Amino acid sequence: MKPITIAPARRLAFGRKLRAWYRANARDLPWRRTRDPYHILVSELMLQQTQVSRVVPKYSDFLARFPTLESVARSRPARVMEAWSGLGYYARARNLQRLARTLARQGASAALPSEPAELRALPGIGAYTAGAVASFAYERRAPLVDTNVARVLTRVFAPHIDPRTHSGHQAVWRIAGAVLPRTGRTAYTHNQALMELGALVCTARVRRCRACPVRTVCASREC
Ligand code: ADE
Repeated sequence: MKPITIAPARRLAFGRKLRAWYRANARDLPWRRTRDPYHILVSELMLQQTQVSRVVPKYSDFLARFPTLESVARSRPARVMEAWSGLGYYARARNLQRLARTLARQGASAALPSEPAELRALPGIGAYTAGAVASFAYERRAPLVDTNVARVLTRVFAPHIDPRTHSGHQAVWRIAGAVLPRTGRTAYTHNQALMELGALVCTARVRRCRACPVRTVCASREC
């Protein structure tokens, strides 16, 4: 395994610039106004395959129909599917209900765990979703990598890495962990900011390097 070393000054400059940009430019999205673990989980499952603009109305409709994880556990599966309709990839909704029923069987007080390893043991929760719930709901100091984050981190720190390969993917997770700020609170902003930069500036289609807050520390800058 090839070690990836990132100079502390570069890592710190990256984080500071990224978060300052996020504070000034972040979209006001409904799942950024809550720390409710169930709400965060629903948003992250919906966002896995679906664009933000399509998720926003579906997210509030779904939570109006199913305000708690217990309500999902109790519901007939067809009703959950119906509330998911329009989003596609129904396996996500089926897994959500399996997860809700798994927790319901554990007793009245069973809640979504805050530890990424425990979250991963639940139906339908992969490494990304576990990191997202831990960071965005519980403000745990957890890294997370989806395709957007992988693109940003490889472009900035390791353009030679191909995140589609197994070893490349693992290397990106190590970078994500290495650049994570010290506290969980700051890691929340940092993780949201990575996603936002990947969605708005450093996209798959275009690199808006002139508008990029981290261009001075970026290995792939084009301006
Ligand atoms: N895609 C996945 N998670 C997201 C988030 N928290 N904000 C914006 N887009 C996302």
